[in-house]
Amino acid sequence: MKTDIRFFNEVARIVNGALRLDVDKVRNYTAFLADKLESAGEQSAAERLRKLLAETDHQLRPAEVRFSKALPVDSESRFPLVEHVNLRGLQEPPINLLQSQWDVVNEFLSVAKSYGSFDTNDLSGALSFLMYGPPGTGKSRLARHIAEELGLDLYVARLDGLISSYLGSTAKNIRALFDFASKTPCVLFLDEFDAIAKIRSDGHELGELKRVVNSFLQNLDTLGRQSIVIAATNHETLLDAAVWRRFTYRVALKLPSREQRTQMWKDFIAPISFSERDLVVLADLSDGFSGSDIRETCARLKRRQLTSGKALHLSEAFMVLQNLSISGENDRCFASTLTNKEPAEIVHLLRERDQRLYSLAMLAELLGLSKATAHRLAKKEGENNGE
Ligand SMILES: Nc1ncnc2c1ncn2[C@@H]1O[C@H](COP(=O)(O)OP(=O)(O)OP(=O)(O)O)[C@@H](O)[C@H]1O
Ligand SMILES: [Mg+2]
Repeated sequence: MKTDIRFFNEVARIVNGALRLDVDKVRNYTAFLADKLESAGEQSAAERLRKLLAETDHQLRPAEVRFSKALPVDSESRFPLVEHVNLRGLQEPPINLLQSQWDVVNEFLSVAKSYGSFDTNDLSGALSFLMYGPPGTGKSRLARHIAEELGLDLYVARLDGLISSYLGSTAKNIRALFDFASKTPCVLFLDEFDAIAKIRSDGHELGELKRVVNSFLQNLDTLGRQSIVIAATNHETLLDAAVWRRFTYRVALKLPSREQRTQMWKDFIAPISFSERDLVVLADLSDGFSGSDIRETCARLKRRQLTSGKALHLSEAFMVLQNLSISGENDRCFASTLTNKEPAEIVHLLRERDQRLYSLAMLAELLGLSKATAHRLAKKEGENNGE
């Protein structure tokens, strides 16, 4: 008889937990296996396992049952160190990555799907994936995608919250975090990962810092192959070479290209639809924006449309783009350079940027002018330039 290798992995983890007398791990992975069996159509087997769990629920003291599901907490404040991300029913627009980025993600996913089944003396430690890049470029979004693809729960640990002013507590927190990950079928997402490196600038001894970082790496190594760890940072240059090397799969996320922005506008503004030409203009106007900024702009436009009840006009999108950009230093896009300028100057700047894209008809539409006025402004512009 051929063993179903996927279920064998779950069984192996349960056996591993049992041999180490780790009741939490046994319980968590048994519940996980029951879910998997159920999805595979093995309803009665799933129910038998759940019944076994329920039976022992009664045998354990209530505190112990609660404990197996408890989140690890900060050793001083008692705040949870991780947060469970609910992926169920989340309907998000597709992720937009470059092919070279997808290649890394997909390679990681296919290794992760079969990782448990490798025979493994030469593979040790958790499977790890590092994402780095500016804010709003899709790191958290990608973490959700990975957990979803792997059918695992996602737990986010913000490392800035885990690092305490007492390095002793930091070490305890790191242990508690990895202890939790080792007994829970999950993807562990270490967000703000550079916080681990920032301890250096907080006036601690270099030796102390090294110990924390080392304890971190050791924990990662002893986590075991069943665990998947993802980390994200905006400041990759702060990462130690040893930490950097520890992540076999790495992907650099960047601000979206013009093509990506065009697609994002289309995906994020749905169910409202703009013509292809309008989408290209919006992509150009939002040059410099991250995916998150474009999502935010679209959300705002959709809200406006809902409250006004009127069709969304391109000029409104242009106006919102200009105004959104002045709200934050970081959210700057091409449109923000046009804020508070006279129509004549805007016409000039847009014509200068791309005469074909910003045709007279398009300028009229963007600025809410008549074609005659747009024509007059552009003509004046041409004369000023001696054309
Ligand atoms: N490349 C992308 N493809 C699709 N959607 C994106 C992309 N980048 C950003 N978004 C959208 O923007 C939202 C916010 O992005 P996200 O939270 O993933 O950014 P981040 O890189 O984690 O930022 P931060 O560094 O601030 O944590 C996402 O939920 C998604 O809707
Ligand atoms: Mg994030």
